[in-house]
This record gives sequence, C-alpha cells and structure tokens, in this order.
Amino acid sequence: MKVAVVGADGQLGVDVVNQFTRAGDQVSSLTHTEIEISDIDSVSNCLKEIRPDVIVNTAAMHHVEKCEQEPQRAFAVNGLGARNLAIVSREISAVLFHVSTDYVFDGAKRTPYEETDAPRPLNVYGNTKLSGEHFVRGTCEKHFVLRTSAIYGKSPCRAKGGLNFVELMLKLAKERGKVRVVASEFVTPTRTTEIAQQIVALSRTDSYGLYHAAAEGACSWHEFAAEIFRLTNTKVILEVAGPNEFPMKVPRPLYSVLENRVLKSRGLNLFQPWQVGLREYLA
Ligand SMILES: NC(=O)c1ccc[n+]([C@@H]2O[C@H](COP(=O)([O-])OP(=O)(O)OC[C@H]3O[C@@H](n4cnc5c(N)ncnc54)[C@H](OP(=O)(O)O)[C@@H]3O)[C@@H](O)[C@H]2O)c1
Repeated sequence: MKVAVVGADGQLGVDVVNQFTRAGDQVSSLTHTEIEISDIDSVSNCLKEIRPDVIVNTAAMHHVEKCEQEPQRAFAVNGLGARNLAIVSREISAVLFHVSTDYVFDGAKRTPYEETDAPRPLNVYGNTKLSGEHFVRGTCEKHFVLRTSAIYGKSPCRAKGGLNFVELMLKLAKERGKVRVVASEFVTPTRTTEIAQQIVALSRTDSYGLYHAAAEGACSWHEFAAEIFRLTNTKVILEVAGPNEFPMKVPRPLYSVLENRVLKSRGLNLFQPWQVGLREYLA
C-alpha cells in the first residue's frame, strides 16, 4: 500500500512511519515543511501528487495553553485541517486515519469513557479536536478516528518540546532526588509504538469508524511516576503534590480514561496494560 503520514517527524508520526515501513508498505513522510493542513491548496497539491491509498493524520496544535491563547489558529489546524484532509481523502478515494484525544471528555464520569459517551470538552484544544472528528466523520466515509490518551514515545513531542513524562521523571529524580506529582488526574499512559501498530492493523480492514485507542488500565500521574521509578530501580523520594501546587491555567478533565470498547467488540484490540507498554519502552 501507499501510505502518507502527516506530522511524520512528530512523537507519534515517527512510529507510524516505522510501523508501516516494517509492514512492507511504501511510505511518504510528510513534515510541516511539505504540507500545511490548514491550507486546502497545500493539502490538495501534496496528496494528489502522491495519491496514497492511506493517509494518517497525526498533525495537530495540541499545546493546551497555546490553543487557549490562539483559538482561531487551533480551529484552523485541528478543525479545518482535519476537514481539508477529509475532503482530499474522499476526492482521491484514500482511507483517512485521524488521531484525536481523550480531552473531548469533561472527566465527570469517573468510569472509563466509551465511544458512545457524549463528549463535552472543557477547553479550546478539546473543542477544536472534537470539531475535527466531526468534519472527518461527516466528510470522508472511509475514515478511522482514533482517540488516544497521554502518549509517550522515543521521539520527543514537538508541540511540548523536550522530554516526555517518563524521561522528565527520570531527569528530575536524578537532579533533585525528590519529586512531587499530582495524584488527582487520571489517564491511560499509551506508548506511541502500540498506537502505530494498531493503525497498521486497522489499515488491513474496512472496519471504519470511531475508536478509543489507548493502553489498558488507568492510573494517576503519581502512580505512573511510581511505576517508572520501580521499573528503573530509581532511588527517589516520590511525594503527592498538593491540590494547588501546580495550578491549572486551563481547565482539563481530571479523569479521561478510555475504554477500547469498539476495538474489543470487533476483535481488533492490540493494546496491552499500560504497565507492560512502559516496561517495553524502558527496555
Ligand atoms: N501528546 C499527548 O499526550 C496526546 C494525547 C492524546 C492525543 N494526542 C494527539 O496525538 C497526535 C500526535 O501528537 P504528538 O505528540 O505526536 O505531536 P507532535 O510531536 O507535536 O507532532 C505533531 C506533528 O504535526 C506537525 N504539524 C503541526 N501543525 C501542523 C500543520 N498545521 N500542518 C502540518 N503539520 C503540522 C508538527 O510539525 P512542527 O512541529 O514542525 O509544526 C509535528 O510534526 C495529535 O493529534 C494529538 O492531538 C496527543
């Protein structure tokens, strides 16, 4: 298959390129220099030249504070960018994979969110990502929309700059010997390699639709840090941060755990418990 990966030098994009290449597909790696998804002409020119069978969109504006400061730009990238990709995918009969987020939920539920739960984003990032989902689902029949959560991988996240949570914890432990982490926010840490493997597996099917695509289980950031230190035998004092110690500048869901209900019901779920993914990442 011919596959075009948008956001190819991003944290997730690098692994998506690697996994499709390993599977024997012909991959075009599109970085921001090659394509601007908020510009329909750029999207059309770039993709009509390649004519891929599959397009994977990992590109987004996902720095939560920046989205709040620049809502129009966030909508142009996360909403209209997804729409532009969906229009062109439909025109060239390509299958579109679009990566979305657990931040479409408000966190009030306190049990894992399923695909049938009503989204209610709390911030600009979540709202604009939700608009992108709607554009994709309403425009391009052959779509896979994958919501995922708290991702980490070998390549750094370009939007947030620098280290992922795992590397940050190890760095802080080494430098300070004591680390304080919030225990009130619950997520499912998900390894980018697993998301990429899931995308490749889905690309071999025509089971289009909306999917939750996160590792199995859930933890607070504090529990995640504790497991990182346990698996690496790191000597550190790990404490629970106070409720106002790291004040949120932008409202976020305190609970955004995803249940991969649709993947499981179709016998397609490849995700492992988050602790297993973490152990493999550290190895
Ligand atoms: N990080 C998380 O914890 C998390 C959680 C849930 C869902 N997600 C979703 O997962 C996806 C991948 O995240 P990531 O961490 O891999 O992001 P990342 O490392 O920041 O990579 C994003 C890529 O998209 C490119 N890009 C940004 N704006 C673009 C535009 N307007 N046109 C074309 N390319 C553009 C970036 O290029 P430049 O850097 O050169 O601009 C970069 O290559 C996103 O859709 C995000 O919403 C992330």
